[in-house]
Amino acid sequence: MTLMDRLKAQIRLEGPMTVAQYMTACLHDPDAGYYATRPRLGAEGDFITAPLVSQMFGELIGLWCAETWSRMGRPARVTLAEVGPGDGTLINDALRALKLAPDFLAAADLWLVEPSSPLRDRQAEALAGAALEPRWADGLAGLPVENPAILIANEVLDCLPVRQFQRIETGWAERLVGLGEDGELGFGLARRPLDRALPEAPLGALVEVSAGQEAFAAQVAGRVMRQGGAGLLIDYGRAEPGFGDTLQALKGHERLSPLATPGEADLTVHADFPAVLAAARAEGAQAGLLTQRAFLLRLGIAERAGALARARPAQADKLFRQLDRLIGEAQMGELFKVACIHAPGLVPPAFEAA
Ligand SMILES: C[S@@+](CC[C@H](N)C(=O)[O-])C[C@H]1O[C@@H](n2cnc3c(N)ncnc32)[C@H](O)[C@@H]1O
Repeated sequence: MTLMDRLKAQIRLEGPMTVAQYMTACLHDPDAGYYATRPRLGAEGDFITAPLVSQMFGELIGLWCAETWSRMGRPARVTLAEVGPGDGTLINDALRALKLAPDFLAAADLWLVEPSSPLRDRQAEALAGAALEPRWADGLAGLPVENPAILIANEVLDCLPVRQFQRIETGWAERLVGLGEDGELGFGLARRPLDRALPEAPLGALVEVSAGQEAFAAQVAGRVMRQGGAGLLIDYGRAEPGFGDTLQALKGHERLSPLATPGEADLTVHADFPAVLAAARAEGAQAGLLTQRAFLLRLGIAERAGALARARPAQADKLFRQLDRLIGEAQMGELFKVACIHAPGLVPPAFEAA
């Protein structure tokens, strides 16, 4: 039975499901979920991410980690954790650059937070022979608690489940996934008691409540408040509160209906950075936000690209194309944002005046 068949059977039996429940089934169903069974990252796969665009991305983040550790007062042990490391490219590039910071490497314990078993295998392969040997956890709660932590999560917020609500004449209705008259999956609306206040909105407006993203930010914040450290959350998304449906499915780099092929496509939403920052600040942590462009420029990506181009002139055009893809205003530079959640008093690199 396909996941599509099972979801239809479940809806016939139990009624329509929330968009959050649908996302979780599509991404993590143990027998057919996208990440559980067939994640395909990269040019040959379904989507591409910043570390796959250029090694400079992971290298600069690695150096950011070492400098953050230095500004934390160089604790004797520190947990270096990447959440959702995909195929391991980012952390592998980071560890290579971190050979320039041997004291940090000597202090760091590497943890990868990864629910996907096929991706854990890819990560183990990528890191064979790397400067640190990784250990894995299923979730943030599985990380050791005795040391401060530096956490990285690139394109993870976007796969955490959201609920969607639409403003109707009589108030708010939740958008649900149910069955149409033709027996196929379709979206519908149902009046439901709300467990939180929603913003004033014009009739027809759709608002996403990113409970999964808020919970994730609160967990990162709780952790840096208790043990110290910082978390870097990078994703595409909004910097101001807004309305609109951002649920999208990607397969072979093409967008398709989120209901078309459950479990066979990557399913994402935009990160809701105002909600992420608010959830972190509610725990007492400090939180700043930069565009990816500003973040990478402050870390010196333009100089790094120039140095690489001088060392490998034959590659210069390719390097500058990659640079433009990462920081170009019409490319990833403005749509992607970098949130830093950190212990009060710590000023992580690039966030001095954020
Ligand atoms: C879009 S990929 C990004 C991969 C990688 N960070 C990159 O930039 O190439 C999303 C990653 O988050 C992981 N992931 C999905 N849901 C997660 C969750 N609830 N908690 C932690 N990681 C999750 C996926 O298995 C995958 O490794």
